[in-house]
Amino acid sequence: MQIRLEPWDDSRKQDLIDLCNGADRTFLTNRLPYPYTEADADWWLGKVHEHDGKDGVFRAVVVDGKAVGNITVEGKSDVYCKDAELGYILATPYWGKGIMTEATAQICALVFETLDLARITAEVYAPNKASQRVLEKNGFVLEGQKRNAVFKNSALWDLYIYGLLKPEENAHD
Ligand SMILES: CC(C)(COP(=O)(O)OP(=O)(O)OC[C@H]1O[C@@H](n2cnc3c(N)ncnc32)[C@H](O)[C@@H]1OP(=O)(O)O)[C@@H](O)C(=O)NCCC(=O)NCCS
Repeated sequence: MQIRLEPWDDSRKQDLIDLCNGADRTFLTNRLPYPYTEADADWWLGKVHEHDGKDGVFRAVVVDGKAVGNITVEGKSDVYCKDAELGYILATPYWGKGIMTEATAQICALVFETLDLARITAEVYAPNKASQRVLEKNGFVLEGQKRNAVFKNSALWDLYIYGLLKPEENAHD
């Protein structure tokens, strides 16, 4: 199985629409539109075009040639400008094969190489154990917990805050 990150562009629009319409939304914010239309995809691809490589990195997760996931690191502003937020989603038939663990490793390396950041943050709902494992396998540290911060589908959940610091430069370089 080959797992690659590729820039989003118009040629992947239908993959994006299929991914977002088929997504398991249990642990996602409600801001992802449903149904996810071509207009939604156009808006998002425009945003990617504007920000990619400047204050964020946005990639399709391509497995054996097909875009089956999305992974992004979006920069923050003001005093948080050295921080950025990681997010990801994978089509359900591809879960449990190590794909997002590998995609996360690739995007974090790329982000620290290309953007002037000190850290990457990820926020995860307490019951989302798969996402927490993905982060922990990539060296993210659980830094804090906001109690009852998330209200989704009539349930209150804690929000876990994970962080990954930029690797130290080699002291002898
Ligand atoms: C979270 C998500 C991206 C994980 O992707 P994935 O490619 O299946 O993840 P991986 O296979 O790389 O790793 C998953 C890990 O979680 C573990 N896991 C899965 N379900 C679990 C559960 N219920 N409890 C404990 N661990 C669990 C797996 O065993 C694996 O860990 P291991 O390698 O130590 O065995 C995917 O489930 C998804 O798209 N979910 C919906 C969207 C979402 O939640 N996005 C994140 C928002 S913060």
